[in-house]
Amino acid sequence: MNNPQDLFKKVISHAKEYGFVFQSSEIYDGLSAVYDYGQNGAELKKNIRDYWWKAMVQMNSNIVGLDAAIFMHPTTWKASGHIDAFNDPLIDNKDSKKRYRADVLVEDYCAKIEQKIEKEVKKAKKRFGDAFDKAEFMATNARVLGYYKKINSILKRLGKSLENEDLADVKALIEELEIADPISGSRNWTDVKQFNLMFGTKLGASAESAMDLYLRPETAQGIFVNFLNVQKTGRMKIPFGIAQTGKAFRNEIVARQFIFRMREFEQMEMQFFIKPGTQKKWYEHWKEARLKWHLSLGMGADNYRFHDHEKLAHYADAAADIEFKFPFGFKELEGIHSRTDFDLSQHEKYAGKKLQFFDPEENKNYVPYVLETSIGLDRMFLAVFSNSLKEETLENNSSRTLLKLPAVLAPYKAAVLPLVKKDGLPELAKNIFKELRWDFSVIYDEKDAVGRRYRRQDAIGTPFCITVDHKSIEDKTVTLRQRDSMEQTRVKINDLSKIINKEVAAKHWLKRL
Ligand code: GAP
Repeated sequence: MNNPQDLFKKVISHAKEYGFVFQSSEIYDGLSAVYDYGQNGAELKKNIRDYWWKAMVQMNSNIVGLDAAIFMHPTTWKASGHIDAFNDPLIDNKDSKKRYRADVLVEDYCAKIEQKIEKEVKKAKKRFGDAFDKAEFMATNARVLGYYKKINSILKRLGKSLENEDLADVKALIEELEIADPISGSRNWTDVKQFNLMFGTKLGASAESAMDLYLRPETAQGIFVNFLNVQKTGRMKIPFGIAQTGKAFRNEIVARQFIFRMREFEQMEMQFFIKPGTQKKWYEHWKEARLKWHLSLGMGADNYRFHDHEKLAHYADAAADIEFKFPFGFKELEGIHSRTDFDLSQHEKYAGKKLQFFDPEENKNYVPYVLETSIGLDRMFLAVFSNSLKEETLENNSSRTLLKLPAVLAPYKAAVLPLVKKDGLPELAKNIFKELRWDFSVIYDEKDAVGRRYRRQDAIGTPFCITVDHKSIEDKTVTLRQRDSMEQTRVKINDLSKIINKEVAAKHWLKRL
């Protein structure tokens, strides 16, 4: 699976084959960019959500949770700017009749230049061997510097044109770069137009009295409209945060790359309310804190990077993405946004109600500024899943497919396997299974030879296999097999819970923060 495209195909097929992700309404040929999570996917997704919640809410005494409704009063979206400004620039190809996001076409063009840089690095590494210094090479090689200059100037121009709503220049840029339709190769483009991403629906029984509603495009607004409810009832003092996870909906123009860009997805967002003027400090704080959360999962520091936004959303005075190296390259995984007092001020204006905090230290009221961290749960799922999927060649030249999930996120923490289906082994194995499931999510499997059962558990990422054999009945010990090293040790049945817990408990992972 050295080729990234092969890896991505394998990710999609493995996710389906092992009950992680299914196309929505598959029996009706599916619904584009909508997905369902299967028996193992639902567990993995829940574990990612719990890991986030624990780090953000449980471990921060000044952050509390919220579960706001998906439907919100329609004025919310006027106030937040989504009705007027939540648009994507779209462009159609006149020959293929395919629709694209104009900015994504340009960004993909830049990603191709980045691939050229990676090739240069690989070549140089081969040439210089152990003496190769990547940082120095990147800073001095004329070809690499030229590529970076080109990328920067393209993205700067794109950012400016989008900020100024100069859609004619976005089209001019696409034409100047000679960007072709990725499917047909045609360069016959329409003008660039804006397209609002919100899904509309109606509330009410009769056509006359029905009210136009939107499915929320971000969970954040549920937090803003509840700012005062939570602050007052929770007696919260600034700085404090409100966190929530939940569904969001966007009518994405180009929905592709599996669960990377979906029309219905889940967000995990936290709005941190702060004193105006302190936003720079908190922006840096949350950038660092969120990166540490990612790194705690041990998926490799090289797979993350920050990308500072040139084009700022209508509400932000600074914004950065934490990008992750997906099989199709570095892409946004999480956003950290300094949202100023934009949202609360707008809701004050449209609702005609004060949304302010009385600061006893300053002896005055003010509208707090907001620092937001916003991550897509499905995108995090894809990051974890694609990074964990490995194909290994074993010593006897056979191969195994392994889902090397961080143990804290694995759907099952252990599988209990009787060596054979007789001699009292299933009974003992079932007793162990029943006892362990008080502490962890565990699975019992007695079908097929034990080697095949190990492979099945490797493929769904179960970190431990517990094998019960004849000796177990005599001395109350079992074989404990580690997923990654395949190492097997003999341990006491009574010690199992403690040994497994040490490896899978969130505490063990979050302590790295
Ligand atoms: N409240 C701010 C906000 O919604 P965003 O950058 O539009 O900011 C935040 O979205 C995160 O939500 C992204 O970093 C991404 O992980 C996730 N996300 C956004 N659109 C998505 C989509 N169509 N499918 C899956 N995840 C998406």
